[in-house]
Amino acid sequence: MKTPKRLLPLLEDGLIDEVLRPLMSGKEASVYVVRCGDEVRCAKVYKEAQKRGFKKAALYQEGRKVRNSRRARAMEKGSRFGRNQTEETWQNAEVDALYKLAAQGVRVPEPYGCFDGVLLMELVTDDEGDVAPRLNDVAMSAEQAREDHLLVMEYVKRMLCAGLVHGDLSEFNVLVDDYGPVIIDLPQAVDAAANNNARSMLERDVNNMTRYYAQFAEELLETRYAAEMWKLFEAGELTLDSELTGLVEEDLHTADVDSVMAEIQQILRDEEKRRERLKADGEDDEH
Ligand SMILES: Nc1ncnc2c1ncn2[C@@H]1O[C@H](COP(=O)(O)OP(=O)(O)OP(=O)(O)O)[C@@H](O)[C@H]1O
Ligand SMILES: [Mg+2]
Repeated sequence: MKTPKRLLPLLEDGLIDEVLRPLMSGKEASVYVVRCGDEVRCAKVYKEAQKRGFKKAALYQEGRKVRNSRRARAMEKGSRFGRNQTEETWQNAEVDALYKLAAQGVRVPEPYGCFDGVLLMELVTDDEGDVAPRLNDVAMSAEQAREDHLLVMEYVKRMLCAGLVHGDLSEFNVLVDDYGPVIIDLPQAVDAAANNNARSMLERDVNNMTRYYAQFAEELLETRYAAEMWKLFEAGELTLDSELTGLVEEDLHTADVDSVMAEIQQILRDEEKRRERLKADGEDDEH
């Protein structure tokens, strides 16, 4: 096919050899299948900020660290230099997240770098080489749903251990190949410790995934992984070895236990008094 303009620099630099076909054009990016030597890869071309639905960007970017302070000031002022820097930070966020997560044992497409606003990565396919479907297009048995749900919860935990919350996790941003779920679409990943919205985003991510898998295994709706993970994360106790149960002792529940215990103790005291009274009455009758 004719090479799209945004991919020309990569072709000229020899980063890609041929653009094979368009794969998908979403709100934020156009995705192409490209050839690099004898490998087939995936190129994600980010749309410019004005063409992206950028309304909620501030929500996601809160707490994002920018190392160089001149750059940070320019981004705050919104100068042209600043806008370009904001663009670059946004684009690099995805490739950074991919490298981080791959190192943490989360299944993501293998990244090959981000150049001129184009992310090069592994094309996720099935064994026949066909592009892997999105989770949204996959039905499964209850057993498979329970297994994959648990695996995705493990991935979410590993992301949180790396200090990240996906922020847009759903059945549309998970691909399924012959080995299982693969997490994609991470430019909006948020800094779990610095962003005040991280907790609610984690909750939403986990609920989206649980709701999807629960179509095949309804009992999954009872699980509470987000609350469990966040509790450990906040206490600084979440590690790759943390074993999650999907259950949490809600604070409410703890309060209930206390009041039930108090009630039981009161009943025991009343019973003791009653018996003392009975005993005293019996002794009176004897005389
Ligand atoms: N590495 C990949 N391998 C195979 N397919 C991919 C890969 N990356 C993206 N895709 C396909 O391209 C689609 C769009 O990619 P992605 O979700 O990253 O971009 P997006 O523009 O942010 O999407 P949207 O706005 O629709 O969520 C995916 O739903 C998937 O079908
Ligand atoms: Mg997407």
